[in-house]
Amino acid sequence: MKLPVYLYGHPVLRKISTPIEPGYPGLEQLISDMFAAMYESQGVGLAAPQIGRNIRLVVIDADPVAEEFPECSGRKLVLINPEVEILEGEDISRSEGCLSLPGISENVPRVENIRLRWLDQNFEAHEELISGFLARIVQHECDHLDGKVFIDHISAIRRQLIKGKLNNIVTGRAKVDYPVRWAPTAKRR
Ligand code: NI
Repeated sequence: MKLPVYLYGHPVLRKISTPIEPGYPGLEQLISDMFAAMYESQGVGLAAPQIGRNIRLVVIDADPVAEEFPECSGRKLVLINPEVEILEGEDISRSEGCLSLPGISENVPRVENIRLRWLDQNFEAHEELISGFLARIVQHECDHLDGKVFIDHISAIRRQLIKGKLNNIVTGRAKVDYPVRWAPTAKRR
């Protein structure tokens, strides 16, 4: 089944997602469908709220950006109930985009180093120190599980400057070339 990506303005993106218990029905299929939706839309990460489910599940395949960010090489991850611990260090600003906000990219300040604890698709526990752009992807995706999107981290001035673009997404006038679910406020569905 092809999963549409829920766009900015949809309330599902603003809810706090709930942890997943072992035996969650259809989990294996869901994970595979999420990877398919992510590849179709050429993203490097996708969180379950973005496909309309408020559960704590993230898929990541950062390999496509490995040339620019070597730490991403071969990193394909399924994160169930992930926990991000922010480690000491300065914030670094880099450009980010999001499949739920097509046509928008903004510099977002984030820490370089995190400690990540998560369960994989077999509910086995992992812990790893993660840095650089991979840490950025993880923070971005885990934000989705708490109802946050990357533009929540930008200045009021920057937000004002992209207001028109945001409005186009919310009202269904944005250009997007992968399957999506528009917000209830959009004129199209
Ligand atoms: Ni996103």
